Amino acid sequence: MEAYDRFELLINDRIVKTPVAIASMAGIVDAAYVLERADHIGAAFIGGYSIDAPTLEASRRMAEEGRKEFLYDDPLEALGREVEALKQSDVVTGINLRGSTPASYAEVARAFEDAVVYEIDAHCRQPAMVEAGCGEYLLRHPAKLVEIIRALKAEDVTVSVKIRAGVASNDADLARIVWKAGADIIHADLMDFGHNKVRQIRNASPLTLIANNSITTFDKAMDAFSHGADLVSLARQSDAWTLAGLDAAITRSAEEGGWYNAPKQLCRGGDIRRSPSAACR
Ligand SMILES: Cc1cc2nc3c(=O)[nH]c(=O)nc-3n(C[C@H](O)[C@H](O)[C@H](O)COP(=O)(O)O)c2cc1C
Repeated sequence: MEAYDRFELLINDRIVKTPVAIASMAGIVDAAYVLERADHIGAAFIGGYSIDAPTLEASRRMAEEGRKEFLYDDPLEALGREVEALKQSDVVTGINLRGSTPASYAEVARAFEDAVVYEIDAHCRQPAMVEAGCGEYLLRHPAKLVEIIRALKAEDVTVSVKIRAGVASNDADLARIVWKAGADIIHADLMDFGHNKVRQIRNASPLTLIANNSITTFDKAMDAFSHGADLVSLARQSDAWTLAGLDAAITRSAEEGGWYNAPKQLCRGGDIRRSPSAACR
């Protein structure tokens, strides 16, 4: 069965061959990391990459404090090498970005156009990054997040917003705001909220939804899918063995039972829009 027929999943106008993604880890997830795991994933978000002077300074501070960060003087040149290396693969690529102004994001989008998905890092909670006006700052100041989404969409590119659940005053409102601002993807770190958070975000917006946080087994992945996630992503346990196991089990399940026909969505109070023909058998 062709990958599109199996999962009917497109991101950035490209077929996502399996609904398993790698989530970014600063200083760790780059093109080489993704290429080593490319057989088992459909999408990957490299980075996070700091893209302007205030966020690069924040990265340097964080590195001095012992965190892994990608450090360079010229962000476009550094990112260009990563994007180029991934062009040979069939993995749909996103770049997770930390910028202090909407203009910084737009500049990156002008450089790489539709070659990648542009993911806004509204997730990082490190004080240096928050002080630079990105990461979690954007969840507490959604007007700025909207400005960044609009600046990127003005460049006609695909936009993902990486959020951490439970930080914004209301995640459902945030999902609606992100949707109305024009974003294409919500990539949600569910923290400890689990599948109820998937359903809350799914019910608030029609965007492609990537569920993240400790989704390392087939059962956890299916739980996320049956409550409305389109993909799952892994960061800390994104080793080839775990990704291969997930990909194989999900693919087998789709081949045997079909992807949009999982009865438990209805039976367990899941998301009915994913299974128009599902019945509680
Ligand atoms: C070392 C490390 C670095 C991370 N860096 C980023 C980052 O730069 N941008 C981002 O959006 N999330 C970042 N994350 C968060 C992960 O993408 C992910 O949301 C989180 O680890 C939960 O998923 P997991 O349980 O699969 O690891 C980082 C996580 C770790 C552990």
